[in-house]
Amino acid sequence: DTQAALQAIAEASSLEALQQLKAQYLGKNGLLTGEMKTLGQLAPQERRERGRVLNEIKQRLEQALAERSHTLEAQALEAQLEQESVDVSLPGYAFPSGGTHLISQMQAELLGIFRRMGFSVVEGPEVESEFFNFDALNIPPWHPARDMQDTFWLEGSSEFRIHAPGGQPTRDQGRLLLRTHTSPMQVRYMVEHTPPFKIVVPGRVFRYEQTDASHEAMFYQLEGLVVGEGITMADLKGAITELARGLFGSEARVRFQPTYFPFVEPGAQFGMWWAERERWLELGGSGMVHPNVFRAVDEYREQMGRPRAYETLTGWAFGFGIERLALLRYGIPDIRYFYQQNRLSFLRQFKP
Ligand code: PHE
Repeated sequence: DTQAALQAIAEASSLEALQQLKAQYLGKNGLLTGEMKTLGQLAPQERRERGRVLNEIKQRLEQALAERSHTLEAQALEAQLEQESVDVSLPGYAFPSGGTHLISQMQAELLGIFRRMGFSVVEGPEVESEFFNFDALNIPPWHPARDMQDTFWLEGSSEFRIHAPGGQPTRDQGRLLLRTHTSPMQVRYMVEHTPPFKIVVPGRVFRYEQTDASHEAMFYQLEGLVVGEGITMADLKGAITELARGLFGSEARVRFQPTYFPFVEPGAQFGMWWAERERWLELGGSGMVHPNVFRAVDEYREQMGRPRAYETLTGWAFGFGIERLALLRYGIPDIRYFYQQNRLSFLRQFKP
């Protein structure tokens, strides 16, 4: 019954069902196929007539099957698109990202302030020799000032010499150590360069120390050195004032108080007025470069075949700890938060 077949095809609810119907009518053992097989037994006239009718039915069925199949495919596609569509009103996924460590941020800020004043930024080695870290800075072995900075001494073959300025080990530089301050870079730089110049030296320093809320065995310093003709303590005060203004605004004030470091004379510790909290922050040490330091530099230069260059000049230097500045500025209670604990809840507060 053709009508029934066409109806069944039009109502097929899935592509599988349609496939079954196709087999049922047009397949190898299908109804229509069966009818076709009987044609051979008919008389020629009758056969032609019946064959035409059967062919027509076959075409109608095939067309109906194709149409239904199209419709079902379109419906399936629609359903799939529906399912896969993106709801743009849903909240997105938050990708975790890192940030610059507070101390790196502080260091960049400080270097920016000094670059604007025309300073060059240079760095020196963390493994240093006794000569650059102490002797050349007017701290001979017997000097009590060596006790001011407890030192990590390194074992090492006496053959091993870290690179002296200029590349050659021109003299016995003594034992190896982890630098206790960035000041040895003063000497290294002066041996290598002809004044006048203005430099700042950021870097890690190490102290053999019991750690507590305000002491770490490793921390960062920023060193400054200016050498030239007629350089005075007034220039030092000007630079530190500019630093304070850069950090705390145009109202910032600085103060200097006499103190002792073997490599400066006179020496002064300096502090900054923190208007917001109405208190002084003691930041670091400074002073005029000691003549003995210039003398050690010139002596070293002579040994390398370079002209003496510092006899008639003056200069000043300063040095301070970057963590200490960050502690005070942000009211952080413990220096160990920076490196030992690495708590994300702490670090995230300072994500830029
Ligand atoms: N190097 C000294 C320290 O580590 C700081 C300092 C640097 C003092 C330069 C005077 C001049 O404490």
